[in-house]
Amino acid sequence: MTTIAENWGVHKDQFWLRGEFPDEAVGFESETGAWNVYGHAESLKTLSDPKVFSSDTARLIPKEMSPDKDQFIEGNLLQMDPPDHKKLRTLVSHAFTPKVVADLEPRIAALTNELLDAVDGADSMELVTHLAYPLPVIVIAELLGIPASDRDLFKEWVDTLLRNSQKRSLIEQSEEDKRAAEETREQITNLVNYLGEHVDDRRKNPREDLLTKLVEAEVDGVKLTQNEVVNFANVLLLAGHITTTMLLGNTVLCLDSHPDEYRRVREDRSLLPATIEESLRFLSPFALVARATTTEVELGGRTIPADSMVFTWVAAANRDPRTFTNPGVFDPARAHNPHLAFGRGIHFCIGAPLARLEGKTALNILLDRFPHLRTDPAVPPSFIPSPHMTGVNELQLLLKP
Ligand code: HEM
Repeated sequence: MTTIAENWGVHKDQFWLRGEFPDEAVGFESETGAWNVYGHAESLKTLSDPKVFSSDTARLIPKEMSPDKDQFIEGNLLQMDPPDHKKLRTLVSHAFTPKVVADLEPRIAALTNELLDAVDGADSMELVTHLAYPLPVIVIAELLGIPASDRDLFKEWVDTLLRNSQKRSLIEQSEEDKRAAEETREQITNLVNYLGEHVDDRRKNPREDLLTKLVEAEVDGVKLTQNEVVNFANVLLLAGHITTTMLLGNTVLCLDSHPDEYRRVREDRSLLPATIEESLRFLSPFALVARATTTEVELGGRTIPADSMVFTWVAAANRDPRTFTNPGVFDPARAHNPHLAFGRGIHFCIGAPLARLEGKTALNILLDRFPHLRTDPAVPPSFIPSPHMTGVNELQLLLKP
């Protein structure tokens, strides 16, 4: 199988993609000043104990490295701790329950068919351009109530964010780090200004959409500030599409390189949900989640001081041999698959039911419409150029026998 590890580049340190696992489940990296957690049991601890492993990691980033951070953090669900986290999460959780999400299936199917109509009769297609990027971004844009037709703009902004999301030192900033931070700030500002205009509009012209709900919502009798609404919407927009784009591409890639599993799932689509879970384990889109310790803590035989940045590599934990049998084997039939690709605990991915439904619906239709679908051996896949993400960026597929 063409793996990301073969594509070296930003993934060169990711030993788990080469089927290796370190003796140490937790380690300190003097180069960046951060702690890395690789083990499954240890990762579970960091994700399940927000008192010790806080999500407010921004406080550990020196002010000069991120001068506007306060403006972008307010209302960012991913960076909040209890009790504020729960109050804000409750506001949108009803929009993503399995029942509400299940009702989106006909729309997801219609969109998938519409997108695939564009390649009907063609010999080949690039999966990300034609399906894996537009589908989730249109779905989340429609839920939020922003024009899905602006998706090329989002892509431009998000691509810059991903390109600049490299391993950065918390100790000292290089010239390249400064340039990347500046570019990232510019693109986040673009996104935030764009969403701000739509939020302003919704204050005057309420509609049946999530943006209006956020504008009207009250926490303890108080409405959210403009910053809170915009940053909350921003997290939903970003988290709501890039990861699902990767899930779709990664699953096609996994199937293509495992012909027996591919044939089985083609013939029996009830195997698709387990195949998607295995793809999430094997190539976990959100490779890393960050936490900040609030106190000194023992983890994996190491003592992590208070106020340390802790990177929990869920992509590595998902290949921990102490938890998974033959972790380097893509096996949709594995009996036990407690993967952490959607996180755990209070920050467990709010969009997991939606991502799973989009994956199942889109892949079902793709396999129905293109029974000969396979990767083009002449065009190797490319991967998102960020070590924090594990995902296909471009995947050229052949459609005819
Ligand atoms: C949280 C992964 C799809 C919205 C998370 C977290 C992970 C994750 C690992 C936990 C982060 C942490 O603990 O710090 C994924 C993957 C997806 C996906 C792999 C697709 C395959 C989506 C979708 C949405 C979404 C479709 C859209 C609604 C969110 C939000 C959070 C979150 C809002 C923050 C939840 C909180 O902090 O309480 N996601 N996600 N995600 N995800 Fe997803």
